[in-house]
Parts: sequence; structure tokens; C-alpha cells
Amino acid sequence: MMFEEDMMKTLDMESLQALVPLHGVLLSKDVVDNWETIESFQARSDDVVIATYPKAGTTWASEIIDMIYADGDHEKCRRDYIFNRVPYLEFRVPGMPTGIDQLNGTPSPRLVKTHLPIHLMPNSFWEKKAKVIYVARNAKDVAVSYFFFHQNVSALPDPGPWDKFLDNYMKGNVGYGSWYDHVKGWWEKRHDYKILYLFYEDMKEEPKREIRKMLDFLGKNMSDDALNKIVYHTSFDFMKTNDKVNYKSLPKEVIDQSTIPFMRKGIAGDWKNHFTVTQNEEFDGDYKRKMSGTDLHFRTVI
Ligand code: A3P
Repeated sequence: MMFEEDMMKTLDMESLQALVPLHGVLLSKDVVDNWETIESFQARSDDVVIATYPKAGTTWASEIIDMIYADGDHEKCRRDYIFNRVPYLEFRVPGMPTGIDQLNGTPSPRLVKTHLPIHLMPNSFWEKKAKVIYVARNAKDVAVSYFFFHQNVSALPDPGPWDKFLDNYMKGNVGYGSWYDHVKGWWEKRHDYKILYLFYEDMKEEPKREIRKMLDFLGKNMSDDALNKIVYHTSFDFMKTNDKVNYKSLPKEVIDQSTIPFMRKGIAGDWKNHFTVTQNEEFDGDYKRKMSGTDLHFRTVI
């Protein structure tokens, strides 16, 4: 899939940026308008899904898993852009091939990216017993990363000032809805289906250990040498300069990286540079209420 600058100019941006609720979750209008097609998507038993709330490290996990399927051969992963190697299930922008079109044309085993909350996942993934690797990232860093992403991506609504965006994020008034519901929803079902639940902060702390968990889950063996290559080629510093994954191939009409790159900071704890003391106190109080009663714990948040 390629993005044409001219095509972007003909798009109705207001319609593209519109979010509408579907079963309690705000999604892009184009996704909701075509929901039947997404809901009836035919999964395959050897599909591997990379599921995340936006900005949780989707691209990072996608590159790691594609490298696992390429046995650590980085050159094989340069065959195409990440958005073609790992199609985005619910991707729908008028005039472009949909994520489903891409997936239907992809030979097995397919890697599938999605941001859908678990209750909106097409049933065929569960019927086919497909594997899912879910990556969760702490709520505050996601909020910061999502805010900057909204500033760069033309298909997303104007986030307004940080304070307003944070308020909307806490209320779930952003694309893909509530971070709290998303991470808890996937967590609660992790034993019902084939789900490996990982954390961005763990991947930062010890990538090799987390990639080993992925290998075990996917039933793959790999030499230490190949594993080291994956760690090297999927580090933030390496990926930042890799045009196959840093979205610099896309025109600025789609994502404008002139001031803030997609590969922005890639750290845990950047929220401390953006939350005011008051915002932090309010967030923590609200967080405790929303996360009470769950045994899902993020170690770097509060
Ligand atoms: P920041 O904005 O905090 O830097 P997604 O792919 O889900 O959209 O997530 C994007 C976030 O993951 C960005 O966070 C980006 O910098 C970070 N990221 C991408 N590749 C990474 C890597 N190899 N290591 C650590 N973080 C990475």
C-alpha cells in the first residue's frame, strides 16, 4: 500500500477525523460505517495478532515479531514497510486498500495489527484459536504519546491543548475509547484465549527476556545470535533511523513529523515532563478508582 499525496488532498478531512461510538467505544466513523465487514473478518489459525491500545509500542512489537518470523534476518524485514508487513485490521481510509483487503492478499502466516478492545474483536480469531500478543503501556506515557500523535496525524481530530486532551483521555473520549477498559478487558480474558500479555516497560527493561517470552508463546526456537540481532535491530535508536518502520515514507499530509517524530522518545516515564502536579494528583485519584478491583498492575505509574 502506498499513500498518494494528491489523494490525501481530495479526502474529506472532517469526515476522516470523526469519531463515533460503537458498543461504548469511540472509533473512526469509517470503521463504524463498515463494521459488518470487520466483524465478519475471516481469521486463520496461524494468524498472529499484535493488539494494543494506540501508542503502547505497536510498531516496536510488530517489528520484533516480523523479525522472529524472519528468523532474525533483518534484510528480510526490509522487504516492505511495516504497515504492509503487518496490516492494520480495522484500517479504513476512503480510496486506499483497507486493512482487510491487505490481509486477504497476505499469505500465511499473517501478522495482524489491531487496536480493537477485546469485546470488538472479530469472533473468527477465537474460533480459529489464533494467537494474540497484547502489549500494554502505562496510562500516563500513553496519554503523552497519544497527544503528540494527534498533533502529527491528519486523520486524527485536533487534540486541543494538553490539559483538554488529558481530560478527554481520562474520560475515554478519544479514538479506541478508555485506556482503562482496553487494558483491563484484554487482561481479564488472557487465560480464555491464546493471549500473551506483555508490558512496554518490561520490554524496555530487558528486551531479550520479553522476546524470549514471545518465542516460547509462538513455539519458535532461535539461536542466541539471532535473538541478539533482533534486540539490536529493534532498539529505539535503530528503529528511529529505519525508514521501513519510522513512517517517514509517508507524506506529511498523512503524518507530519517535521517537529515531533513518530519515534519520539521511546522511554518509560516521559509523562513526568508533561503532567503538572495538579494533573498528576487528579490523574492518580481517577486511576485508583478506575483500576480498583483488578489485579493488573503497572509498576511505573503511581
Ligand atoms: P513515544 O511517543 O513515547 O516516544 P505505537 O507504535 O503503538 O504507535 O507506539 C509508538 C510509541 O512507541 C512511541 O512512544 C515510540 O517512540 C515508541 N517506540 C517505537 N519503537 C520503539 C522501540 N524500538 N523502543 C521503544 N519505544 C519505541
